[in-house]
Amino acid sequence: MKTPRELKVKPIKNGTVIDHITANKALHVLKILHLPSQESAVTIAMNVKSSQMGAKDIVKIEGRELESGEVDKIALIAPHATINIIRDYDIVTKGKVNLLDETSDIIRCANPNCITNTEEPVESRFYVTSQEPVIVRCYYCERVMDQKEIEVQFGSF
Ligand SMILES: Nc1ncnc2c1ncn2[C@@H]1O[C@H](COP(=O)(O)OP(=O)(O)OP(=O)(O)O)[C@@H](O)[C@H]1O
Ligand SMILES: [Mg+2]
Ligand SMILES: [Zn+2]
Repeated sequence: MKTPRELKVKPIKNGTVIDHITANKALHVLKILHLPSQESAVTIAMNVKSSQMGAKDIVKIEGRELESGEVDKIALIAPHATINIIRDYDIVTKGKVNLLDETSDIIRCANPNCITNTEEPVESRFYVTSQEPVIVRCYYCERVMDQKEIEVQFGSF
């Protein structure tokens, strides 16, 4: 018989579970990872209860093992996300996302006159000046962006 406990988390055989995503940011995480794609089934849980975080999102990707370095950009939007690699239903690796000192590509500069917005294709590039809350500074125009402005750059869903 099915119970709420069994239903809360659908097991996957092989793949990646991204846990402890800041509540309501799962869709941003998918955007960063260029998901969904043809190859993998993706399960999303949003706004579920968490003893550590109050509420959190979870993303499960079947058939794809994401490495920590590959997903570090997630830290821009979900600094506490954890990466669990699943093989044959067991967790074989548990990692954290790490925000690097520099980040590129993933967000646009908020300054409309910035070279990255006017001279395409110049890829955006930022220094990460604070980890929590996240603050970045544009490599080109020195525009400082706080967490709120960074979130705006991800767009609303
Ligand atoms: N086979 C699986 N399929 C899908 N999700 C899984 C599988 N195994 C574990 N998970 C999920 O991966 C996450 C981490 O699992 P784990 O059992 O390590 O939880 P935990 O003990 O709460 O760890 P943490 O300290 O990271 O919160 C949880 O969200 C769990 O539901
Ligand atoms: Mg847990
Ligand atoms: Zn700029």
